Amino acid sequence: MTEPLIGKGEMKKEISIYFILFAILALVGGVVFGMIGAFQSVIPGFFNFIPFIKCRPLHVSLVIAWIFLSAVGGVYYYLPNYCKVTLFSDKLAKVHLWIFISTGVLVIISYLMGIFGGREYWEFPPVLAIPIIISWILFGFNFFKTVFTKTEPWPVYIWMWGTGIFFFLFTYLESNLWVFPYFRDNLVRDITVQWKSNGSLVGSWNMLIYGTAIFLMDRIKNDNSIATSRIAFIMYFLGLINLIFNWAHHIYIVPNALWIRYIAYGISMTELIILGKIIWNWKRSLSKAMQDFHILAIRFIVASDVWILLNLMLAILLSIPAINIFTHGTHLTVAHAMGSTIGINTMILIASCLFLIPDITKQQFSKLQAKSISVGFWVMNIVLLFFWIALIVAGYIKGYLVIQDKLIFQDIMLQINPYLITVAITGCVIFAGILMVFIPPLKLIRKYLR
Ligand code: HEM
Repeated sequence: MTEPLIGKGEMKKEISIYFILFAILALVGGVVFGMIGAFQSVIPGFFNFIPFIKCRPLHVSLVIAWIFLSAVGGVYYYLPNYCKVTLFSDKLAKVHLWIFISTGVLVIISYLMGIFGGREYWEFPPVLAIPIIISWILFGFNFFKTVFTKTEPWPVYIWMWGTGIFFFLFTYLESNLWVFPYFRDNLVRDITVQWKSNGSLVGSWNMLIYGTAIFLMDRIKNDNSIATSRIAFIMYFLGLINLIFNWAHHIYIVPNALWIRYIAYGISMTELIILGKIIWNWKRSLSKAMQDFHILAIRFIVASDVWILLNLMLAILLSIPAINIFTHGTHLTVAHAMGSTIGINTMILIASCLFLIPDITKQQFSKLQAKSISVGFWVMNIVLLFFWIALIVAGYIKGYLVIQDKLIFQDIMLQINPYLITVAITGCVIFAGILMVFIPPLKLIRKYLR
């Protein structure tokens, strides 16, 4: 373990703690915009100061920033402290952080000023993609320079992190190809490249997050049994195939070769089943003592397992072309996206924060703080179930009524209004749960930074 360096009366702070701090702030800010957006869907004119057209991208970009900042912050800490390597450059990590944060601020300002220009999920002016790409190249360079010094075989999570880093860069560049007229001027080519790249991009951040999940499971057990196991490597290769092919179910509406769809459909569910199995086996193999020690982090990993199962069932349904054709663009897709990003990704990343923050700050949560996290955990998970079901029902009704073609759009929206109200109200409760979980870690961070 690298000890914090002491010099000139000041302790050198771990760069990861800043990544995690900004990640939590991005999550809180992002969910605030999500709540405003949800109320705007049911109360016309609600908070008109920042209309839905701005709230949605603010929400989505900030929660994606949470996912990246917390995953990357974990990698920067776990590599030198638990993988027997020295980080190639602390400076590059700092530059990465500050480019990311300053670009993030520019993105927020451009949304608030109504300056758009990008494509879905990256609606900011495309020029801001340049610093994002530069910061990612720095991250990749630092990561590979570090791990190539490792003489022992890599545990699976290093493979996963490396693959996630490489493919994020690749797919993010791809998702910006529309700036060239060759892609932009042909509708089918444009949509195909857009959705292909977005599908694979999610696969690349899943690599970063699932790698973190496997890392945490081994650290909690204090051995390397999962990260060197055959099943974990099978999961890695499946994840890789998924990353390369599973996007095809995003674009059933686009005329592309049938074999691509068959492969995508066949493999797109396998990865989640295997991750679910790994977590299940791990949970059973934990002794009582270990469960007590890391109980808070463990809970969130186990919760992600339940959400894997639920989202798997939904994803299997959505991947059936006959269903996909009428659910596309409804709240069912939102349920799928939020169900996985909150239930699976966020749960694993919260587990990582709860492991990493006490480890860096060398402080433990007080009894009261642990209680707050525990209550927050139950609030988040139970209420998320209602939130998710309300989105599914709203999406199902909307898809069905649109296919029936008997009602005008406004009447269809009136039919699903009660479910959207449920989404808005349960969303606020989820926000309260998030605060209960994160206020204690924020206090530890504040004490450490002071
Ligand atoms: C960890 C927390 C959250 C994450 C990671 C998250 C993630 C996402 C993602 C990825 C989307 C895009 C979905 C798509 O394009 O299909 C989205 C949309 C949205 N989210 Fe969240 N979300 C979170 C919490 C919330 C909460 C608590 C609310 C409050 C009700 C909320 C409200 C919304 C709304 C209104 C949309 C837009 C839906 C639409 O376009 O009709 N989100 N969220």
